[in-house]
Amino acid sequence: MSFFEKRRDFLKFFFLGTVTSLITPHKLLGFVKPFLRKNGNEILGIYGISLDDYPELIPIWGSVRIKIENTLMFYPKVIIVHVPKEEYEVDFIAISERCPHEGYPIKDLDPDLHLFECSGHGTLFDVTGKYVWGPASRDLERLHLEYDGDKTIYLEVPLYPLNKLDEKEDVLAFLNQNKPNPCENYTTIVFGTSEPAEVNILLFDQKGNEVMLVFSGKCISHYNELLLDVSKLSIGNYFLKMIVNGKPFATRKVIIAR
Ligand code: FES
Repeated sequence: MSFFEKRRDFLKFFFLGTVTSLITPHKLLGFVKPFLRKNGNEILGIYGISLDDYPELIPIWGSVRIKIENTLMFYPKVIIVHVPKEEYEVDFIAISERCPHEGYPIKDLDPDLHLFECSGHGTLFDVTGKYVWGPASRDLERLHLEYDGDKTIYLEVPLYPLNKLDEKEDVLAFLNQNKPNPCENYTTIVFGTSEPAEVNILLFDQKGNEVMLVFSGKCISHYNELLLDVSKLSIGNYFLKMIVNGKPFATRKVIIAR
């Protein structure tokens, strides 16, 4: 198995897509794991979005917003819209929600005008992301997708520069946001490393006092799931810290509310 293939299996857990509907308040629809492909110097995540799982996309002008989690670089959410094919020559369009003016996210599609409005300074874009009016003066980024004509949309998202996968690089790792969060008495933590590594995961209170050792030892699996009992902790904000081979790796905010 090549180096890329070995890392690819691991990265599937790393780049998780979270899909929410555009219906306000944005409703969580589910999690999508990508298929990974090389594209020059980048890794592309191919996210298979099934219309059976995301019924919001079935009607014309239906849409969903997708957040790609755990990318090492910031990546804005992506909006997919079902458009009338006779007008746009395609069934679905995917655009980045990030306005090219100062980076504010665009609002949901106006249901009558079929325009996006920037939440920052009001620039308007059509459904294909083309600039219409306002201070941005540039189009929204459009992402490539393939529709199989039946039930599945394959959305392509650039995820990771390939040179980051150099053999000499430290072990790759991930710590997902605990779920649910806020939590009452229990919450689930998912983490993993690409190679066996010494991992410590600790929970701190807001003053920086360690309140729990969540995990300590050799992590030998790409994917680990822990159920954390927080029933004895008082309500408030806490911080989960992951340390990999002695180096701080990731922090997640844990909220306990009852
Ligand atoms: S950030 Fe969108 S118009 Fe300014």
